[in-house]
Amino acid sequence: MTTITVIRGDGIGPEIMDATLYVLDAMQLGLSYEFADAGMVALEKHGELLPEATLESIRKNRIALKSPLTTPVGGGFSSINVELRKRFDLYANVRPARSFPNTKARFPGHVDLITVRENTEGAYIGEGQSVSEDGETAVLTQKVTRKGSERIVRYAFDLARKTGRKKVTVVHKANILKSTSGLFLKTAREVAAQYPDIECNEMIVDNACMQLVMRPEQFDVIVTTNLFGDIISDLCAGLVGGLGLAPGANIGTDAAIFEAVHGSAPDIAGKGIANPCALLLGAGQMLDHLGRTDQAERLRGAIVATLEAKDSLTPDLGGTGTTQTFAKAIASRL
Ligand code: NAI
Ligand code: MG
Repeated sequence: MTTITVIRGDGIGPEIMDATLYVLDAMQLGLSYEFADAGMVALEKHGELLPEATLESIRKNRIALKSPLTTPVGGGFSSINVELRKRFDLYANVRPARSFPNTKARFPGHVDLITVRENTEGAYIGEGQSVSEDGETAVLTQKVTRKGSERIVRYAFDLARKTGRKKVTVVHKANILKSTSGLFLKTAREVAAQYPDIECNEMIVDNACMQLVMRPEQFDVIVTTNLFGDIISDLCAGLVGGLGLAPGANIGTDAAIFEAVHGSAPDIAGKGIANPCALLLGAGQMLDHLGRTDQAERLRGAIVATLEAKDSLTPDLGGTGTTQTFAKAIASRL
């Protein structure tokens, strides 16, 4: 029996989590759930956005499945998600983008790539941000370390090896950002030399964006710094048909949190029409992480079969199904 922390989240969070747990239960994986609160629900119930009991639960179980959290504007953390990544040093943000049948993807071509984004450094350190008193000048400090670069690039190469992928593309802007992106690239080259079995190439970020749109099939694993990874992974989600299909894992040494890339979607919350696939695919990443790749493949297979059959698809995919009927259709194909 493996116990995982489950955060049902805000907005559409509880709906897509119920649907996801329905499918996981149907798989009879021997998972048990410890429910913990975070976000607006936690604020209302416990008076804080990220209660100690929730942190303790993740610390203990080391695995969490998390629905989106609404970050209230003003006060508290800048983002609960960023705060969680910081607390548990979840340095690797792993975001696969894969073409599925019958989506609204712009191109019929096959996309199957993984963005590995550094999750704790770069432009997102939350330090050294200031605006001058006259409001005319703003400053931001970026920080890149050899240690941080080394572990994320190593993570990307190990992931490539483990999943039978052939190539890692290091995306950078070292020609202009000579210090930060320069150190990242230099370190990446050193790490790459230790993986002679994996092809490595380098690409400057602006060109990488154009190449991703024109010839996405040339990419296999992308490794890059925080800001570039944030933007590139959304670009990739767009390539394969949108937010309802984009999962992400936040991985550290002592804990890992699996989620959908999208937010709490307040515009459709409570209507029962949210697409549960992104969180389900996040649960698939969780099963991979737990070493249960066969079960992860089983889950992904049932999702693909349901998309192929156009059975109970939610409105974002052009169907008339609901979150629950979509989940039931997936569960029936496990
Ligand atoms: P959003 O991702 O919640 O919604 C953007 C658009 O995509 C909306 O039209 C929404 O209806 C649609 N959408 C999102 N997920 C969907 C799904 N599963 N099925 C069908 N349609 C879906 O982004 P938005 O509106 O900018 O953010 C809303 C809240 O979510 C904010 O408070 C934000 O801070 C939070 N957020 C939380 C994240 C997390 O917990 N990881 C990530 C991003 C945003
Ligand atoms: Mg983002």
